[in-house]
Amino acid sequence: MTFGLRRARRWFTALLTSYLLEGIGYIIAGTFLVAALQQGAPGWIGSGAWIVVGLAALPSCALRMRLARRMSRPALLTISLSLQAVGIALPALSAGSVPALAAAVLFGATFMGVSTMSLAIGTHLRIPRAIALLTTGYRPDPRPPAGRTAAAARLPLCAPARRRPGARRRLRRGRLLHTVPQPPHPLNLENHAMPGDLTILGTDLPVWAAPMAGGPSTPALVQAAAQAGGLGFLAGGYKTTADLAAQIAQVRASGAVFGVNLFAPNPVPVTQDAFRAYAHALQPEADRYGLTLPTETLTEDDDAWADKLNLLLKAPVPLVSFTFGLSRPDTVRALQDAGSLVAQTVTTPSEALAAAETGADLLIVQAPAAGGHSATLVPDRPLTSIELSDLISDVRHTVPLPVIAAGGIATPADTTSALRAGAYAAMVGTVLLRTHESGASAPHKTALADPAFTDTTVTRAFTGRPARALRNRFTDTYEPLAPLGYPALHHLTSPLRKAATAAHDADLIHLWAGTGYRQAREEPAARTLTRLAAQR
Ligand SMILES: Cc1cc2nc3c(=O)[nH]c(=O)nc-3n(C[C@H](O)[C@H](O)[C@H](O)COP(=O)(O)O)c2cc1C
Repeated sequence: MTFGLRRARRWFTALLTSYLLEGIGYIIAGTFLVAALQQGAPGWIGSGAWIVVGLAALPSCALRMRLARRMSRPALLTISLSLQAVGIALPALSAGSVPALAAAVLFGATFMGVSTMSLAIGTHLRIPRAIALLTTGYRPDPRPPAGRTAAAARLPLCAPARRRPGARRRLRRGRLLHTVPQPPHPLNLENHAMPGDLTILGTDLPVWAAPMAGGPSTPALVQAAAQAGGLGFLAGGYKTTADLAAQIAQVRASGAVFGVNLFAPNPVPVTQDAFRAYAHALQPEADRYGLTLPTETLTEDDDAWADKLNLLLKAPVPLVSFTFGLSRPDTVRALQDAGSLVAQTVTTPSEALAAAETGADLLIVQAPAAGGHSATLVPDRPLTSIELSDLISDVRHTVPLPVIAAGGIATPADTTSALRAGAYAAMVGTVLLRTHESGASAPHKTALADPAFTDTTVTRAFTGRPARALRNRFTDTYEPLAPLGYPALHHLTSPLRKAATAAHDADLIHLWAGTGYRQAREEPAARTLTRLAAQR
């Protein structure tokens, strides 16, 4: 079933159930009203009155459904309750009898109370989410984690939860057992004045520096992004845990607010036969560098996932983002409990829904124009061709989480368009590759400015996972031969790519680049970021 159909069915079911429950309530209330009317007023007034009351529930429910996605909850509550109040008062007034009015007010108040309660309950607590959905048609946040600031930031009806820095009380079976020392909170909670968005991060510039594994994302680039008022990510991918820890320590010492990106395991299997055939096909290229590619050994690692997570739990950073796969809800919760905001990179609205179910605080929405690996959760399917601004609005209509936009942003107009579509910030990778602080290899930087490279292409030839790169001889020759298979193909071609990079042989290098690569300039990263933020 397509995503649109599924969404329509879900809406329809929620709406129908909501009407049903509300209808039953009104019928019970109506019985009482009719009894009251029988004391003097003609019977048809009572029935007619309650049909009107029932009808009044329709726009109210529909509004709750639609507006829940776009409005603050107090505004939503006010509108919804006013509609119900009008619906209840009008027929009662038209009936003209005092007992009828009293009955209407009494039962109206009951229903308003139930609606309010279910909305509030659904907003605050995890278990009665279904109740909130059924009784008000409102779909609350997928999994509001209890008792932490990032969660509170999504719940404007409640005050943000503050944690005492350095200590946390644990209550078990109603008794205070002990005090557990906690690492210092990575975010400055005292400045968190405005729940409901990401202002807690304290960024002024709506252009962030994307994580770029394999060298480009350096601590200097992350610091430059923070100094410009934005935010940068360290790339945890392909590094040892010790190297990542060292980079984190370096950025932390600078006082920057920053993020760390990890590849969440989502392996793409490859058969031994397909792997062997591809290794044989590549061997002539490897011969030029005196390398022998492993035809039998298939390396399938998880990029030290558990170690890197432990690192981030022991020494929390302000923002953690996941790419390639989804992390488990308890992992997300643990990071949030440690004080980090958690982001998930997604490429479609259905992925956004799945990400929200893990409890992520925000989404990085990546369009197919992006350089480097696609964050798609289903790498064996072709990437959907879609403009970034359309993707942002599709995602925002699906999931009420803040969005960071990425993919093909290379000019101030691109930033403006992403922000107008509703993104909290634009995030750029390719345009930073040639900046002074970028750790991209020299041949990569050169190729981005070389007019000989005229196009980008999405290829799995380098790593067995779709990624956008400058078209070169390797992509032209080997894309048709390459199977899917990550990380096995990444490990297979890695020595060849390293040798080609050392030899400045751009024909064999993975020259990751988004469609906006022509805009990448050799300049300080802060200049690139502020230029992109200029027109708003
Ligand atoms: C060289 C390079 C390496 C990348 N590595 C990562 C990575 O490690 N993790 C990740 O989530 N995204 C990675 N990406 C994708 C970026 O985070 C970002 O989504 C993308 O660069 C945005 O599109 P743009 O390149 O058109 O600006 C990489 C992109 C590039 C160009």
